[in-house]
Amino acid sequence: MVLRGKTAIPSPAYLTLDWQFFRYPCRIAVSLLILRSVDESFYHLIIGAEMVDFSEPQRRVVPWSQKHLLGLEDLTPEEITTILDTAEDFLKVLRQPGRKVDLLRGKTCVNLFFENSTRTRTSFGLAAKRVGADVIEFAASTSSLNKGETIIDTAKNIEAMQIDAVIVRHGCPGTPRLLAKNLSCSIINAGDGPHEHPTQGLLDILTIRRKFGSLKGLTVALVGDIAHSRTARSNIWGLKKLGANVIVCGPSTLVSPYWKEFGAEYSYSLDAILNRVDVLNLLRIQFERQVVRPFPSIAEYAHLYGMNSVRMRKTKENVLILAPGPINRGVEITPDVADGEHSAILDQVTNGVAVRMAVLSLLLGKNPPVV
Ligand code: NCD
Repeated sequence: MVLRGKTAIPSPAYLTLDWQFFRYPCRIAVSLLILRSVDESFYHLIIGAEMVDFSEPQRRVVPWSQKHLLGLEDLTPEEITTILDTAEDFLKVLRQPGRKVDLLRGKTCVNLFFENSTRTRTSFGLAAKRVGADVIEFAASTSSLNKGETIIDTAKNIEAMQIDAVIVRHGCPGTPRLLAKNLSCSIINAGDGPHEHPTQGLLDILTIRRKFGSLKGLTVALVGDIAHSRTARSNIWGLKKLGANVIVCGPSTLVSPYWKEFGAEYSYSLDAILNRVDVLNLLRIQFERQVVRPFPSIAEYAHLYGMNSVRMRKTKENVLILAPGPINRGVEITPDVADGEHSAILDQVTNGVAVRMAVLSLLLGKNPPVV
């Protein structure tokens, strides 16, 4: 009778329990419903229990035949769309309390990075764990490569430890393809010199698709160091395949008219294209890959190609600002634009985990669960 006199009834209270059961997350929802009877003389306590997901989750069956992900140049529009749709499923998984599925239990991936990385390495490691795989981190600087071992021998030795996927970043273009020819496990390109960075291209495209619904007919400008940017190349292949118009923009020392042959427009003036673009992807100047400085000073570059609040006023009202990171505040983008309402820079990072979960699950042969 402790509730006598209270008026806020019926009032449901939900007790939800989550745990791993037979490899899949289970949920038992216990609903407590306390009802006061009509004559107000006593109370009813109703307990309803609901069990969900005790069996294997239903899988969305998607056609997939690729063993490696070496570049977006190699994929069909349908394959790119399959990865994006699968990543959408995983974004839902990431929003659920458990944040993981157990699809790749028993599979092992190795992060084989020979170049610096913050986002991509962490994102792949996290994505592998979120789909239930084990991850090994390879430290290139303390490896036997320093004793003269070739990269193929190093990779073969790692593979001999029963590895299912090698995620490789290397300064030399073509390294992932070389490993794909010499190893029997799946190879994922996490950036090969200035050549391709397919998962960055995919996460950029997913971020655009999530805002606009479709890529068809959109105009996307890639601004900056096109000559040395693997992000630019993967974006160009992926965006063109999904029907977007691409403009490459930057100083003439970093933007070649030859991009016309690949269906991209080029411009040496950012101000001239601002009012036409739906998306601006602001690429970092890749100082580490340049033999000579391609412009007189960083200040001049920022003056001509840096995205700032004055330039923002000349863009379309709903323009989307992207940057693969790391960003150099005050060079390709000012802090107010990087942190402003049009910026989706941190959404790109979130979407990157889902894209990499999708890539790993598709390549390693497991379709994602329906969520
Ligand atoms: C890009 C890369 O490494 O190519 N960054 C990334 O993967 N997050 C772009 C860059 O370094 O500028």
